[in-house]
Formats: sequence, C-alpha cells, structure tokens
Amino acid sequence: MMRKETIKGHTLPVLQCDKQYGGLLEQVSQYAFDYINTIYQKPPFPDEKAIQELNVFDEELPFDGVDAFAVIKQLHEIGSPATTAEIGGRFFGFVNGGLFPVAHAAEWLADTWNQNSALYVMSPVTSKLEMICELWIVQLLRLEPQTAMGLVTGSSNAIICALAAARNELLNRQGYSISEKGFRNAPPLHVLISEEAHSSVKAALSVLGFGTDEIEMLATDELGRIKIETVPKLDKNTLLILQAGNVNGGSFDPIDKLCDMARAAGAWVHIDGAFGLWAAASKKYRVLTKGIEKADSWSVDAHKTLNAGYDCGIVLCRHRNALVSALQANGSYIAYGTQRDGMLYTTEMSRRARAIPLWAVLKTLGSSGVENLVDTLCGHTEYFAEQLKKVGYTLVNPPVFNQFMIACETEEQTAQILRIVQNSGICWCSGSQWKGKNIIRISVCSHMTTKNDIDISVAVFKAAYEEVFS
Ligand SMILES: Cc1ncc(COP(=O)(O)O)c(C=O)c1O
Repeated sequence: MMRKETIKGHTLPVLQCDKQYGGLLEQVSQYAFDYINTIYQKPPFPDEKAIQELNVFDEELPFDGVDAFAVIKQLHEIGSPATTAEIGGRFFGFVNGGLFPVAHAAEWLADTWNQNSALYVMSPVTSKLEMICELWIVQLLRLEPQTAMGLVTGSSNAIICALAAARNELLNRQGYSISEKGFRNAPPLHVLISEEAHSSVKAALSVLGFGTDEIEMLATDELGRIKIETVPKLDKNTLLILQAGNVNGGSFDPIDKLCDMARAAGAWVHIDGAFGLWAAASKKYRVLTKGIEKADSWSVDAHKTLNAGYDCGIVLCRHRNALVSALQANGSYIAYGTQRDGMLYTTEMSRRARAIPLWAVLKTLGSSGVENLVDTLCGHTEYFAEQLKKVGYTLVNPPVFNQFMIACETEEQTAQILRIVQNSGICWCSGSQWKGKNIIRISVCSHMTTKNDIDISVAVFKAAYEEVFS
C-alpha cells in the first residue's frame, strides 16, 4: 500500500523509490563499479570481438517494450566492451578529457533531478550554480569581471555563439541591425582565420553565412602559429579568430601582439581555446595565453582539460549584451526574470544542467587544483615526448601544453607504427596530417594518466619501433 502524508490539508502519496526504480539504480551502479574497477584491464579501443558483438543491436524496434533490467543488462554486456577507455590513463587520442569522480557523481545527482536549465524558474539551483561557474571561470582564466558565460554542448557550439555575437555587434557598430535587416544585404565583414584554424571554426563561420571565398586564411609558421607579418591591415570590420592550442601540436598564436593590433583597429577577436585556454590557470603555462584578456570572446571546453565530463562547452564574451542579443529567443510563455536565465547565453533552450558537474569539479579542485591538473597533464606530455625521443622517434614539434606529434621518415612507416600502437590494446593515439605529412599525435588529457601509464605506453612504441625498423 502506498504511504500517504497530509501537507497543508492535502493528502499526498509518498513516492517510494520502488523495486523497479531502485533496483535499476542499484543494478546500474553495480555495472558502473564493474566498469571502473576493470578500466586498467580494458583495451583503450575495443577489440574486434566487442565491435562484432555490437551487431546484436541490429534489430527491429520491438512492438512490445522490453523489460528495463534486460535493457540495462544488454547495455552493460554489449555496450561497455565497445567503449573507448576514456576514463582510464592510456587513451591519448584526439583531445578527449577524462572524468573526475566528483563530476560523475554530481552528474548522477543532476540526472536524478532532471533539471531543465533554460530558465531560472525551471531550476533555481542550476541558475545559481551557472552564475557561480561564470564568476569562477572568468577569475580562473583572468578575464575581465563583466565577462558573460554560456554553457553549451562543446566548443563547436560555443564558437557559433561567440561568432554570432561578433558578427552582429560589428555590424551594429556600423548602424546595421542584422536582426531587422538580415545578413544578405549587410556590409561585408573581413574575416581572418589561421590556415591552422580548427574545422569547427570553419563550420561555425559557414553556419553563420560566411562562405570560404570570403574568409582570408593567415599563413602560419612551422609550429602552426599565425605569422604576424602576414596579417593584413585590421579595421572595425574585421573579425579575427585566433587559436590557443592547435589540435595537433598544441601551439598558441601570438595572442598578445595580435590582440593589441585588433584593439587599436576596433576589430573583434575571438579565441578558440578548446583545451588550451586552461593554460591561463597555471603560473607555469600562463605565458602561452598572454594577452587573452584583450580579446572579445573565447570558447573553451570543460570536458577536455578540466575532465568535467561530456558535454560541457563554454562560451565567454566580454560584451554581455552582444552575446545575449545575438542568441535571445522570445515567446509568450518564456518567463525571463531578474535571476540568471541560462538560455540567454546559448543557442539552446532546453538544456541539461551542465553547471552541476562543472561547479562540483571546480569546487573540489579549487584554483590550486586546476593549476595542478594543468601542470600535471603538461608535465606528463613533456615526459612522454622525452621518452619517445630516447627510443629514436623524431618529434615533429616540441611538446606544447598537452600535445605533441611524431613522424617517421616515410609515410608508410608512420602509418605502420600507428597501426601497431592502435592495435596494441595497451594505449591508443590518433593519426593526423601536418603540413601535408602523416603524423601521430599524442594528447595527454586525463587526470588518471600516471608516469607508469606513460612508461607502459612508451614500451608499446619501443616494440613498434623495433618491429618496423629491424
Ligand atoms: C582547437 C579546437 N577547437 C575546437 C574543437 C571542437 O571542440 P568540441 O569537440 O568540444 O566541439 C576542438 C576539438 O578537439 C579543438 O581541439
């Protein structure tokens, strides 16, 4: 029989976490423990058997639903082995972050609450924590206190938000309102990006109506940094997009000098710092981000360097009104209030409560913990690079921040080494192209990575070297 309680004269049932709901949560937490406890034994990339077994999912949508316990069991048994071990210490592919336990735990709680963080009235707690995250992140990155923050899926979306603000504001300053007159007849803007800009920057520009013919690519040096001497005259029509952390080699554009030039000309600077912007939180690595505070907008991920879990992208904008007016949606039922309404700073309305795990990570680490995290990831990267050099590998670039690249003399040798490492079942790195040549890129992004993980991975690279070069 369901228990009942009388509150303010109303008799209300007391919902017990019944056998079904409670049992599912217990079951899933057991599966989660199994997964976490075996992460070191799991190959960083699933083996062939695990991939083959995914075919079990190829079935017709059942007419009658299947028992929830069976569904979760299938996910655990078939799904878990086919995951990449991103929460482990030897996944060095792409720039994918690990996951702090507190982020995981906070996420579970947030999932239980199932909050929609569009508006304050939908979730006062999320609104409050978003506001706190805004203050803390602006402080950690040493930006100006009035800087606005929005939480989105990832840098790709953060860049769209920031560039929408940039486009509209640059035109507004010339008396042209894009929201009234549209983009078709707008005065032209001069968009400058690095030839090394991340593909998400190009995608964002395309979404916002800029064709590739309208975008000027700036030449870069051997590390992938914009060559200042090739930057054309900037003016108040200019949108200049810089990079704090190249996805392959980790390099940072000469931000300080370029921001000075842009400021003097009245141009807008956006900095794509998906993983690298966090360098600003470290005394040792801050030199890389020197001058970022002079830009107009920034994009960065908490799911990469900060290990706060997917998906947690951050858009930051010095001009709060520009960001809000570019993204604001209105409707008769949308009740904006005097408290923070998170949807004002993003393209999204209904959103999960990303602020909750983000706040939990920041509070658990504190500013010294974030600094320590950055220093540790970068320290491990430097150690990794040194060890590979000792084995005989050629570094394409010295490690910058948490990235570096290696390559062999021939394209085939590089491809062979990559294949051996990827099939090792011990560590995993991804390949890429650098200045037209195949490279192997190594990215140390997880707080779980230890010196021992790197030693084990170096042993894999050493065995691969001996196999290919003997
Ligand atoms: C420099 C840079 N910018 C943007 C992105 C896109 O980020 P996201 O995958 O979070 O959308 C990445 C992803 O690796 C990146 O490295």
